[in-house]
Amino acid sequence: MPSIVELLGIELPIVQAPMAGVQRSALTIAVSNAGGLGSLPGALLSLDELRVDLAAIAAATGRPFNVNFFCHVPPRPDPGREAAWRETLRPYYDELGIEAGVAPSGPARAPFSHDAADVLSEFKPPVVSFHFGLPSAELLQRVRAWGAKVLSSATTVDEARWLEQRGVDAIIAQGLEAGGHRGMFLSDDLTTQVGTLALVPQIVSAVSVPVIAAGGIADAAGVAAAMALGASGVQVGTAYLLCPEVTTSSIHRAALKSEPARHTALTNVFSGRPARGVVNRLIREVGPISSVAPEFPLAGAAVGPLRAKAESRGSGDFSPLWSGQNASGCREIPAGDLTRALLP
Ligand SMILES: Cc1cc2nc3c(=O)[nH]c(=O)nc-3n(C[C@H](O)[C@H](O)[C@H](O)COP(=O)(O)O)c2cc1C
Repeated sequence: MPSIVELLGIELPIVQAPMAGVQRSALTIAVSNAGGLGSLPGALLSLDELRVDLAAIAAATGRPFNVNFFCHVPPRPDPGREAAWRETLRPYYDELGIEAGVAPSGPARAPFSHDAADVLSEFKPPVVSFHFGLPSAELLQRVRAWGAKVLSSATTVDEARWLEQRGVDAIIAQGLEAGGHRGMFLSDDLTTQVGTLALVPQIVSAVSVPVIAAGGIADAAGVAAAMALGASGVQVGTAYLLCPEVTTSSIHRAALKSEPARHTALTNVFSGRPARGVVNRLIREVGPISSVAPEFPLAGAAVGPLRAKAESRGSGDFSPLWSGQNASGCREIPAGDLTRALLP
């Protein structure tokens, strides 16, 4: 079995986690130029933004990089549930003085599509990774047509086997400590979700493709531990969140540096799917898991105006402050330096 360094043509076994909403191409470029695998998250980008970022990467590095997409099935709108969700949030609208009829403004997370594949085909990124399973066989074939290596996240042994059967080149084993959305896609039962230390060796024994460990890895000792468990490399997200190349808001940065960063939870209140972030008011009062929140990604729209208003007053009460359990590796240093510092 090739190592991920050989498979992906990189120098260091470090994949920078794609982080939708807090980064554009600058982070991707910095990490790829340092010898790791920089990643560009496509989930929140318009097609024009995707093209702009891919062109910036192509101009700034000749090294391999990764483009990442969500591949959820968009839910059927459920007006009853959405009305109940808005009713749940109404006291906050009243408190912040937001008109009930204000247009929802949550992030529009779109799954990977033929339109996105058209843009990718202009740039032929060497690696494409997915979250929430895989796109249709037809879409996957389009990505493979230019020779891209395909990665996807597994949060259980069953998901890892499922991905291997569909021909992925490497599997990202995402442990429960990880920041951001859980990549879970075969079950929505949170009791199936386990920590990185438990997950990585089980997936390594179950599949014959390289495994990339993710979740709670924030320093060289963590990378060495993941490799000792049989991982071929690591995917690190949270540790990059204070780097100058990241677009993390000042509110998010302050939360990561504060005592509350030690309190994270899995919550569905910002999007409809479980994701890990720093506990704030909305999570505490409405979540962490709400049975009223509409399905992913619809829950986000009604939270959008609350977030915007609160942030304009300097408050992160209604913002998704994504963070993994281990924020101890967050450092305000260039992402290339942080990448090299992760080497055991
Ligand atoms: C702010 C943030 C945004 C994220 N967005 C994405 C994303 O767009 N796509 C994806 O595949 N994973 C995303 N993730 C999850 C990461 O891929 C990865 O599983 C996680 O960062 C690893 O754990 P760590 O945060 O403890 O390093 C995100 C994580 C964070 C912290």
